[in-house]
Amino acid sequence: MSLFQLVYASHLCTDESVLPSIHSHAVRNDTAHVLSGMLLYANGRFLQVIEGERKDVLHTFSYIKQDERHDQVHVLSEKDIAEKTFTHWNMGFKHLQKDDLLAHPEFAAYLTSPFEQMKANLGTALAMLKAYSPAVKS
Ligand SMILES: Cc1cc2nc3c(=O)[nH]c(=O)nc-3n(C[C@H](O)[C@H](O)[C@H](O)COP(=O)(O)O)c2cc1C
Repeated sequence: MSLFQLVYASHLCTDESVLPSIHSHAVRNDTAHVLSGMLLYANGRFLQVIEGERKDVLHTFSYIKQDERHDQVHVLSEKDIAEKTFTHWNMGFKHLQKDDLLAHPEFAAYLTSPFEQMKANLGTALAMLKAYSPAVKS
């Protein structure tokens, strides 16, 4: 068993009406592939962490990358891990509203910063994903 974690950010290139179908795809497929993680959306940007068997994570990400509902897909991190951090049973999803961002002002600007800056501040990405996740291992 070889566990892997991939974090990426991207840009929604259509309107927000597609969000429910993206979420239901992720839940259905990730349950089948035993992937878990968290997908955040706010102000036109996605931030997602995917954890699971290396081959399953990379297989699913190969589809995600080609999905025409988003573009500017930037991998922020990919690495082998000893155990999962995001222990929710499948892919969590949160469309961050104003109140969610106000609850964590330290993350409010992160999703609107340039992708290269997001990559340089990976710790913020993981802290943000954890802050809004239903279940994490500290
Ligand atoms: C931002 C974003 C995140 C996504 N996350 C996942 C995911 O975690 N798992 C997944 O299977 N599909 C995810 N998708 C959907 C895939 O890109 C693709 O539509 C889906 O895997 C196709 O599934 P189907 O062949 O069963 O219709 C995501 C799409 C977007 C735009």
